[in-house]
Amino acid sequence: MKHSTLLLFTTLASLTIASCSPEKSGPYTTSSAPVKTTANTDYRTPTPSGPMQRNADNNFSSNFNKGAGVTFSRVSVPGPYVALTFDDGPHASNTPRLLDMLRSRNVKATFYVIGKNVDMYPNIVRRTVAEGHEIGNHTYTHPKLSGLSKDRVFSELQKTDDAIYRAAGVHPRTIRPPYGALLQSQREMIHGSFGYPTIMWSVDPLDWKRPGASVVTSRIISGTSNGAIILVHDLHGSSVDAMPATIDGLLQKGYRFVTVSQLIAMGGSAAAQ
Ligand code: NI
Repeated sequence: MKHSTLLLFTTLASLTIASCSPEKSGPYTTSSAPVKTTANTDYRTPTPSGPMQRNADNNFSSNFNKGAGVTFSRVSVPGPYVALTFDDGPHASNTPRLLDMLRSRNVKATFYVIGKNVDMYPNIVRRTVAEGHEIGNHTYTHPKLSGLSKDRVFSELQKTDDAIYRAAGVHPRTIRPPYGALLQSQREMIHGSFGYPTIMWSVDPLDWKRPGASVVTSRIISGTSNGAIILVHDLHGSSVDAMPATIDGLLQKGYRFVTVSQLIAMGGSAAAQ
């Protein structure tokens, strides 16, 4: 298992290097070649012993159409598919703990990482990608982008894209702006230059206020519907504590977990913020 994961990772990394080297000519240029992204859909979680509920295996494509939309807060999809997203990591202990929870349930999620944390914990990002999760761009220093110049915005995103690539050999495909603060003109500019759609959310349990794990769980379960994008912060231990009951409750209701890119690719139409 270890060996085949390594082989797959090596393949992903070399493909990425081959397709993306031309864009390194400057910070604001992006190649028109497709960017290899993080969806490692071949990864299969080993079956754990015991009665753990498991998310269904899936081979959904993560190659969404660039014209699908500039902003998504949820996606219109033809089934009970939802995307769990985790912001502000990686965190030294909470993120690996969360990865264990996701792995035992075969759940694939999307991590909106902060670039400076990626540079601090590159091995955690590498593990996240190896286990089939997607990585998104959440800026390098977590500023409020809506008040920043174009140059600052671009450098925040480029530095993070570079850090993710150094750590895990893949490029992010979407951005989530810190505090959800991004002007429409900035969203269009980022979409044009980096190819990232802006990913907001449709379910917000306000977990950063630390209401307690059971409150986070009940808010998420009651707020989720088909095509939902669920916002959680893996920075906070209490948010991670809420995940086993949250995931098990959603699986029990028939929901299936996919990454953000897979959700967009299967739906294609934005329910714009
Ligand atoms: Ni954040």
